[in-house]
This record gives sequence, C-alpha cells and structure tokens, in this order.
Amino acid sequence: MYYPVTRLRRLRSHPTVRNMVNETIVSLDNLVMPLFACPGEDVKNPISSMPGNYQMSVDVLAEECKTLYDLGIKSVLLFGIPEEKDEHGLVGAHEHAIIPRAIKAIKEKVKEMYIIADICNCEYTTHGHCGTIVDGDVDNDLTLVTLSKQAVAFAKAGVDMVAPSDMMDGRVGHMRNALDENGFNNLPIMAYSAKYASAFYGPFREAAESAPQFGDRKTYQMNPANSDEAMREIELDIEEGADIVMVKPALSYLDIIRRTKDTFNIPVAAYNVSGEFSMVKAAAEKGWIDEERITQEILKSIRRAGADIILTYHAKEVAIWLKGVKTF
Ligand code: PBG
Repeated sequence: MYYPVTRLRRLRSHPTVRNMVNETIVSLDNLVMPLFACPGEDVKNPISSMPGNYQMSVDVLAEECKTLYDLGIKSVLLFGIPEEKDEHGLVGAHEHAIIPRAIKAIKEKVKEMYIIADICNCEYTTHGHCGTIVDGDVDNDLTLVTLSKQAVAFAKAGVDMVAPSDMMDGRVGHMRNALDENGFNNLPIMAYSAKYASAFYGPFREAAESAPQFGDRKTYQMNPANSDEAMREIELDIEEGADIVMVKPALSYLDIIRRTKDTFNIPVAAYNVSGEFSMVKAAAEKGWIDEERITQEILKSIRRAGADIILTYHAKEVAIWLKGVKTF
C-alpha cells in the first residue's frame, strides 16, 4: 500500500505511540565506565582532553566507584598508570601493581561493582608499545607471556572479567589456558577483537600516558579500511575462547558492529573511545551542539548497530541525566 492509504506519520503523532514502536533501548545495564588508576593518595588529576575524567589514586577511585554504583553504573573498566615503567611491561603484572591494588580497594568499598580490567602492556612499557620489542617491533609470542601474567595477577586480586586490548595473535587462547591453570576457569574474557589502528585514541594516550615513543601501532592493530579481516579476527578469538567480542572504535565502525552481530552468535561490545568522547565535549563547550541529546543519539546508534555492551566515558553523565530512570 502506498500513500495516501499508508501514512507513516500516524505512528509518530503522539509520544506514547512513538515509544510503543521504539526499536532500540539503551539501559544503564549496557554501559561500562572506563577509569584510570594512578599512584599516590588523594590524587585526582584532571585529564585536559577528556573533561570530567581523571587519573585517580586508588582511594579516590574506590569512592568514585561507590558514586557510580549508586547512580546505577554497575561496571567499570580499569586502566593503570604505574609508578615506573619497564621494557616488557612486567611492572603491571604483579600482586602489588597498580591495578591489583585498585581492584582490592574498589571491592572493599563497593563489593558489588563488576570490575573489568584492560589487559595490555602499553601503559607499563618505557617505549609505550603493547609488548616486548625485538628488532624494532613488538614480538608476538614473548608478549603473550606478559599479557597472561597480567591477567592471572588481576584474577588473583579479584577482577570479574579481563579484556585483552593488545591485538597479539593467539592472546585469547594463551590467556584462557593461563587462567584455567590457575583455577580461574569461570573468569570471562572480553576480547578487543576488531581493534583498529585509530587516530581516535589520541586523548586516551594522554590519560593513560601510553603513547608509543617510536613508530605506531599499525603492525598489530587493524587497518581501518578492512572489514573481512575483522570477521577473521573475531572468528579466531571466538575459537580461542572469547566470551564477548569487541569492536573498537565505535562510531566510524558501526558497519563492523552490525556485521559482527549478524555473523556470530556471541555478545558484542563496542568501545565509544576517547576521541569520540572528546569531540562531543569540545563541540558542546563551544555551544555548537546539545551534549545530552547528541550523546543519547550516539549511544542509541551504537546499540542499533548491534552492540550489547557500550564502553563509554559518558556513562556517568548519562546516569546523572537520567536521574534514576534506567533506560532511554
Ligand atoms: C591499550 C588501549 C588503548 C585504548 C584502550 N586500550 C589505546 C591504544 O591502543 O593505543 C584506547 C581507548 C580510548 O581511546 O578510549 N592498548
């Protein structure tokens, strides 16, 4: 039937009917807030390129988690800034490293908080690359060992989920084995499976002090031009035991999120990364856009593309905007 019998505006004529036929809902249950743990006590350093985000010492971080939990944000993703760095990133992978300390402090303050820890070496290496350097490039197989060490150390500290973001080949299987051998066979792995070598990570590298000191990450992160390769990465991670697969960044990669959702029967996460957040903040500060509406539209588009979980620096503000309402 065509116009004039069919008129699609009929179902847009009243807010109630618009809500009845609304196809996509974002719930606070879908959102994860990334946080940055740093050394010291009572430290709350603003991250200039990411307004409203801070490097926090573990005492402040634990307080922040209480606030987030009370607002309805039930999960956080942790990144660590260590006192000192080393060549292999091993400073991040022991019992008293920054992330294990942060995990314990959070669990003590708000034990229900679901803690996900990013697993990577770039915050912990002197050169800022995601693994051990041999002949000017990251050595895949040596890096697997440090990554798995990190995962086991975080598991021992009480983390609820690990999220490897390094893009080494075979890291999910290696980590799954290491976790299982240490009795953590119930700990889920959320793999950053289709992670692109993206300029959208710029502000994060200030936040995590993890910019590479030479070269770039193109020998391990994916070429933004590729979609078939993303399917291959995801397929391999699933075979190696990933429980959730992630696409990162989100906004320039909505097609990859949709293709992943249509191709695989597995929960999909999307990372609404730092550059995507900072662009919204900058335009909002200039008064050029309505931050709240834009953010809700962005998160809805990521969900509509097929993401079950969204990692976003806007999580806290969304919870404040919603004031106790869980969905929009
Ligand atoms: C670590 C890591 C990065 C991000 C998440 N984990 C940075 C990178 O790969 O350079 C980026 C997150 C963001 O930009 O918000 N490898």
